[in-house]
Amino acid sequence: MLNFEYNIPTRVYFGRGEVASLEQELKTKYKKVLIVTGSGSVKSNGIFDQVLAQVKKAGLGYNELSGIQPNPRLKSVYEGIQICRDNNIDLILGVGGGSVIDASKAIATGAEYDGDCWDFFINKASPERALDIGCVLTLAATGTEMNGNSVITREDTKRKLALCTPHIRPQFSILDPEYTFTVNRYHTAAGVVDIMAHIFEQYFSLTESCDIQDGIAEALLKVCIRYGPIVLESPRDYGVRSNIMWAGTLALNGLIGNGKEADWASHGIEHELSAIYDISHGAGLSIIIPNWMKHVLNDKTVSKIASYGVNVWSIDTKKDLMDIADEAINKTRDFFTSLGMPRSLKEVGIPKDMFKEMARNAINHYGKVGSFKKLNTQDIVDILNSAL
Ligand code: NZQ
Ligand code: ZN
Repeated sequence: MLNFEYNIPTRVYFGRGEVASLEQELKTKYKKVLIVTGSGSVKSNGIFDQVLAQVKKAGLGYNELSGIQPNPRLKSVYEGIQICRDNNIDLILGVGGGSVIDASKAIATGAEYDGDCWDFFINKASPERALDIGCVLTLAATGTEMNGNSVITREDTKRKLALCTPHIRPQFSILDPEYTFTVNRYHTAAGVVDIMAHIFEQYFSLTESCDIQDGIAEALLKVCIRYGPIVLESPRDYGVRSNIMWAGTLALNGLIGNGKEADWASHGIEHELSAIYDISHGAGLSIIIPNWMKHVLNDKTVSKIASYGVNVWSIDTKKDLMDIADEAINKTRDFFTSLGMPRSLKEVGIPKDMFKEMARNAINHYGKVGSFKKLNTQDIVDILNSAL
């Protein structure tokens, strides 16, 4: 296990009706809030009204920025920054899924920076501070509610890049599983795949002696595999939604990644796909993850992939290690398919024209792609070709 520092300052309010905790959170510290929302779901399912009632009860003034799109765009972030500057905003409150929360985080850093906040995403500058961020999560997937990441797309250059800094960890997050009842089948399934992808990219590591992180990771994967199909049939089952929501948070809040070298290659590749073709992040991962697993399977990685097969899928330990690993990868792909997620790029209408450019972009931006197996440009092109 490697050295690590672990500090998550996010206060989590988990459970039914926890929106009521907002009033206390708001009234002691803030005066003026910017409420950020997406393309309308929180308005039609009543969540926005519940949040607004709390803001009013706390006696805060507010402005609103609505219309944040999935794969949130830089231009919405600029709009939010301007509202903050014009209105003395001291808290950004994101009410929505990962896209809304990520946009809220980018606005929070940009409002405290004199330059162009895109500088942070292209590693030209790093944020020294940010406005406070609060989160009312309505979709279980990204883990953004308890982490320091924000992923933003710049439309003119078709780049989708991540900012990772402790300054954008939310001060508090309201996680009410009932708020996810209205998420449709497709986005619920995409969320489950995203959660599993986050777990894989920290679990599949060559760092040794991380039994605690790996044991928790396997438990989280089993929850996704157990409840993924059930939630699609029973979207209003509180227990099922609770387990998926908490799995999403724990999958990417540091808990299972501390002390390990993680491998974010699949995410790096997927972000290239959703940057150019604007597909759902979870759908892109459903295509990339099994192909990445096959590509990185070798003598060095086989025992870890086989452990996943045995501990998560209960594959017979008497089989050959390579066969176990292969079976585990096939089961993963079939599981994603059973949730209605795509297996191939063809299914989502992505041709091979841009593979080289996407691979080069990923390598140029990240420098090093992958650690379980380090990938070069050709490896990425090969993975994309195998996903066709
Ligand atoms: O825009 P609205 O109307 O809110 O509708 C959204 C959107 O259409 C809808 N939705 C959300 N909550 C709902 C709901 N519909 C009905 N009822 C509800 N309660 O779902 C659709 C997808 O929403 P989105 O926020 O885009 O999904 P998700 O939470 O999966 O976020 C995806 C974004 O997060 C980034 C992804 O790349 C992508 O841009 N990621 C962020 C990460 C992070 N910050 O740590 C890590 C991830 O790996 C990921 O890259
Ligand atoms: Zn993800």
